Amino acid sequence: MENYAVVGNPIAHSRSPFIHAQFAQQTGVNIRYTALLAPLDAFESTVITFRKNGGTGMNITVPFKFEAYSLATRWTERAQAARAVNTFKFEQENGILGDNTDGIGLVRDIETNLNFPLANKHILLMGAGGAASGVILPLLQQQPNLLAIANRTSSKAIALQQQFATHGTILGGHYQDFVGQSFDLIINATSASLHNALPPAPAELFRNATLAYDMLYSTKLTPFLEFAQSQGITKLADGTGMLVEQAAESFLLWHNIRPTTQDVIQKLKAELS
Ligand code: ATR
Repeated sequence: MENYAVVGNPIAHSRSPFIHAQFAQQTGVNIRYTALLAPLDAFESTVITFRKNGGTGMNITVPFKFEAYSLATRWTERAQAARAVNTFKFEQENGILGDNTDGIGLVRDIETNLNFPLANKHILLMGAGGAASGVILPLLQQQPNLLAIANRTSSKAIALQQQFATHGTILGGHYQDFVGQSFDLIINATSASLHNALPPAPAELFRNATLAYDMLYSTKLTPFLEFAQSQGITKLADGTGMLVEQAAESFLLWHNIRPTTQDVIQKLKAELS
């Protein structure tokens, strides 16, 4: 039996073992998938030990995605662009393939599950940390008309604009800089919801949007989704679907089988409610 784990700190809350157990049952692939707590200063040794004990692959979560990028020995294009890794596939001679399935997970949830094609849309992405940078390339690959990155610290958004400028139409700035623009979709990639806070986005930015998406998953509406609702946006989504879709993409990389996700998303929503 192949051994997999999700590694992070904290990790007790992780839903990945549940999701991968569902995929394994559904596809008949025989795996063990556990949650592994790594001390904050011992990510690398935790990975090495897991591998020595027969590990085949890993998912990596907060706060280790950047360290995971450094530890990989080769990268997929999307991991290279994000400079962050959430999936390891162990290869011969101590090689590690690093992938990042977060962005494609978000895109699949929005386009397929929520039936919201991204081509030609105006997208506002709020936040310029690791969560935001991980999803920019897959979003641009859907050829939106504009991807605007708004951040409290505008220099970080401008740096992302420069980093991804060759991949599509992308702008970076402070929230205020985008007043006067019209957006179809607003995505919250800040960590504000974790602190029950709302990013300082002026209400005008929400005026024409039809979908608000919080990348965080939560048992109740986040302050961002509550605000979006109060501004008349009717389609609201949290990151539950993204979580299952990024897991499905890791599962595909490891086992060459794409599991179905709708049933697992429904089960996970039921678990979380
Ligand atoms: P992550 O890996 O989750 O993206 P991070 O790299 O620490 O975490 O980035 C957190 C992001 O959330 C940043 O864009 C941060 O804005 P700053 O760059 O200005 O710090 C944003 N953020 C966190 N709390 C916020 C809040 N209350 N309002 C607005 N933005 C917030």
